[in-house]
Amino acid sequence: MNESLSTWLALREPADFAARSLTLTRAIAKAVAARDPVHVLDLGTGRGSNVRYLSPHLPPRQRWLVVDRDPALLAHASALMAGRGDCRIEARQMDLGSLDDRGLFSGRHLVTASALLDLVSESWLSTLAGRCREVGAAVLFPLNYNGRSRCSPEEPEDAMVLDLMNRHQHTDKGLGGPAAGPDAAAHAMTIFADAGYDVRSERTDWMLEPREREFQRRLIEGWAEAAMAIDSGSAARVTDWLGRRLAHVAAGCSHIVVGHDDVAAWAPR
Ligand SMILES: C[S@@+](CC[C@H](N)C(=O)[O-])C[C@H]1O[C@@H](n2cnc3c(N)ncnc32)[C@H](O)[C@@H]1O
Repeated sequence: MNESLSTWLALREPADFAARSLTLTRAIAKAVAARDPVHVLDLGTGRGSNVRYLSPHLPPRQRWLVVDRDPALLAHASALMAGRGDCRIEARQMDLGSLDDRGLFSGRHLVTASALLDLVSESWLSTLAGRCREVGAAVLFPLNYNGRSRCSPEEPEDAMVLDLMNRHQHTDKGLGGPAAGPDAAAHAMTIFADAGYDVRSERTDWMLEPREREFQRRLIEGWAEAAMAIDSGSAARVTDWLGRRLAHVAAGCSHIVVGHDDVAAWAPR
């Protein structure tokens, strides 16, 4: 298992749950309310955060197919979700680099993926929209990073680091080419609208408080790493910035907002 990804996913789950759009969740739940059982596909499941959040909102009888390339993360997800009433979960280890397998989508009423779309390319999104439209599935894509983040107290290099980090978000993450990164939600809205969907989005920013020290520390370290990967020439300035940001975290005075958007879409009847 990718231990650092697993730790990161566990750390971010409370912030994800607090940020997610209840309005869009309820709207999607309403769209599939008559399905008994409801068949759901979750792409890039990780430790199962999206299933844990959505499951209580959906009809009681649920049949999930959860997919990720990391079998250990998936095993963790299955263990965490065991014993949930008439909610059956099939876990499939699979590389989602291409979406050639139409069988994944067959019979699905809802296709969902949390914190995934910023990793995928525009062409991957287009293929996804086509697959979802073929089966008439509703879709819910929570927590797409949108590049609009800010820190307090401010530091002079905040904008530079954010810009480098946002450029890093566009590098190829193995899902169909250069990643949509901060444009993911906007691309998804256009692509699903073009595929004939009614589309809605809501801002779902993380609002991190000073007490969330460990989470903030890992987040800022990740930003610094990404920034230096894009521009090694800025390493000294980024390292200096990181030291000051970590000092704010340690002092219990650091607030960080990380911009996200949730996107939901329905095929018109
Ligand atoms: C940011 S995590 C989100 C996990 C989970 N949906 C959540 O909200 O906690 C992205 C997930 O996508 C998976 N992933 C990334 N690239 C993948 C690929 N090519 N095929 C399958 N899964 C992939 C990772 O293993 C990881 O679990």
